Amino acid sequence: MPASGTKSFRIAVLGAGNIGTALARGLVRSGRFLPGQIALTRRNPRPLDGLRKEGFDVGSDNVRAVANSDFIIVAVEPRQIKSLLQEVRPGLKPARHVLASVVSGVGLQDIAKLTGGKTPVLRAMPNIAAAIGESITCVAYGKNRPRPETAAAVSRVFEAVGPVLEIDEEQMIAATVIGACGIAFFLRAIRAASQGGIEVGFHSQDALRIAAQTARGAATLLLQSQDHPESEIDRVTTPRGCTISGLNQMEHEGFSSAMIKGILTSRDKASTLFKIDG
Ligand SMILES: NC(=O)c1ccc[n+]([C@@H]2O[C@H](COP(=O)([O-])OP(=O)(O)OC[C@H]3O[C@@H](n4cnc5c(N)ncnc54)[C@H](OP(=O)(O)O)[C@@H]3O)[C@@H](O)[C@H]2O)c1
Repeated sequence: MPASGTKSFRIAVLGAGNIGTALARGLVRSGRFLPGQIALTRRNPRPLDGLRKEGFDVGSDNVRAVANSDFIIVAVEPRQIKSLLQEVRPGLKPARHVLASVVSGVGLQDIAKLTGGKTPVLRAMPNIAAAIGESITCVAYGKNRPRPETAAAVSRVFEAVGPVLEIDEEQMIAATVIGACGIAFFLRAIRAASQGGIEVGFHSQDALRIAAQTARGAATLLLQSQDHPESEIDRVTTPRGCTISGLNQMEHEGFSSAMIKGILTSRDKASTLFKIDG
């Protein structure tokens, strides 16, 4: 494999749908990779015409994409991974390729079985904010520690789209739910805030802008201070004030409970997404 920082290092995204294209866009946006270094495949590549015009190597030939790449990102739905890996398996070169699967619910053991067990494989769980360099990507290698050049390639690729956190594979479902599904949970919370904002006096565009920027402020405060959310909340809640009365009402209606129960439901669903013999 060429060093991950060189122009001859090539990436294939097999299954360039929502997350695959978010990753591709983020990789280029980071300035570390050029569109021409990234191959994107779909069975029907027409929706990728725009990306082709931007210089990405777009097509439907997975075997060719693998043959021309060093780092392979598999981003199909769980039910599609088995046939995809069976298709590309003969072209995998263990000394050259690293294969990262972002597919939810498909374990490393199954991926190794489907790829022949020799090519270095890992699981990665980014989210669609990868497109703007604001993902957090959890990566798991399982029992096999990666070789230094594999770890360097993995870091270089995924750190281009946000921070990377190495986790145990058994935490991958939790990472999926909090990190990948979590984007949707927080977006829904922002939508709810903006709907409330309309009711108390703003047109929808302004309400949404205020709600989204306020959510960004809350997240940035936490990330920069590394405080617990309640410490920041204490600084907003004046005694007998309007914040605490609103917050308590939300809790009476089950705000935290709804989020936690939603996360548990997603966790239960995530563990049923794939069966190798299914
Ligand atoms: N969306 C997220 O935010 C997110 C975040 C983290 C992880 N994930 C995981 O990533 C995976 C993809 O999710 P997604 O939301 O991006 O789904 P998606 O939009 O449906 O993307 C899957 C893509 O794979 C393509 N595909 C299917 N079979 C293929 C094959 N044999 N060869 C090449 N391309 C093929 C599909 O296009 P064609 O039908 O044209 O082939 C489609 O564009 C899932 O396993 C999901 O759990 C998603």
